[in-house]
Amino acid sequence: MIELDTINLEIDGPTATIYLNRPDKKNAMNPQMHQDMNQALDAIEEAGDVKVVVVTGNGDSFSSGMDLEECFLKPYEDPQLFYRTNLVALNWFKRLKAFPAVTIAKVNGFSFGGGVLVTGICDLAIASETALFGLSEINFGIFPAGGASWAAAHNFSRKQALYYILTGDTLTGAEAEKYGLVNKAVPADQLDAATDKLVRKLVKKNPVTLALAKQVYEHNRTVDLPAAIDYDQAKLWELSRLTGNEWINVALKQFEKRSYQPGLSTYSRAEVAS
Ligand code: COA
Repeated sequence: MIELDTINLEIDGPTATIYLNRPDKKNAMNPQMHQDMNQALDAIEEAGDVKVVVVTGNGDSFSSGMDLEECFLKPYEDPQLFYRTNLVALNWFKRLKAFPAVTIAKVNGFSFGGGVLVTGICDLAIASETALFGLSEINFGIFPAGGASWAAAHNFSRKQALYYILTGDTLTGAEAEKYGLVNKAVPADQLDAATDKLVRKLVKKNPVTLALAKQVYEHNRTVDLPAAIDYDQAKLWELSRLTGNEWINVALKQFEKRSYQPGLSTYSRAEVAS
């Protein structure tokens, strides 16, 4: 366990878990936490073989979002300080979105503003049924910024996104599942087990393939079909080269021997390095 001022980081083989750790402040993200988050992402990259990053909160909150006092009120009078303070946050939001490992938000409680942003930019999310989400920005006079509107637009339908942006109403984990913000909502006492189950599934896959699958999805959702097909072809050759043709030499060879059915399970990577 690496203990930073406001974050604990656990790296266990292919899985890294980031614990936001300001429980007394509902894990509000203050300037120190934004710096620690960048440091945590550095450490995960340096570890080299992390395939899955789980982000969660200590205590009863995932995150109550940006620290309204330390990030906004206090530095406001000094425009340079305000800019620099918030830039550190914006940088790690962009970085987490583009992170090569699969990112999972494990939403254990309150998730407001920036908490919804982090939930929304992670690739996958599992929440406690009783977690409470809200785009509360409208309640203090602004719109969801820093990527939070993007997160809403890319996870909810248009009507639900605008509803939550304009009203600031809260939604539970169960509602977040219904409206697409999280993949699954489970009873609070099953959150660890449900997340572990998902992680175990993902770590069996080739990390290069996982990273490229994310890239291809993100690229292809904004282009037309011919452009998507061309991109797929180029990325497939890149994948083949980067993995030593693992899909042909290992995965499809195992299929040829009928040692597994790809429709129902994944190939064994026991014979390859990582
Ligand atoms: N920024 C700064 N401080 C925050 C915070 C935030 N985003 N969210 C919570 N805190 C602080 C509270 O001010 C309180 O501090 P104090 O002990 O010094 O008084 C402490 O965390 C505990 O919060 P409290 O409000 O007492 O807990 P609660 O369980 O009654 O309510 C929330 C939890 C999350 C509903 C409530 O704290 C809240 O509305 N927070 C703001 C959420 C928000 O609008 N986030 C958007 C930011 S982009």
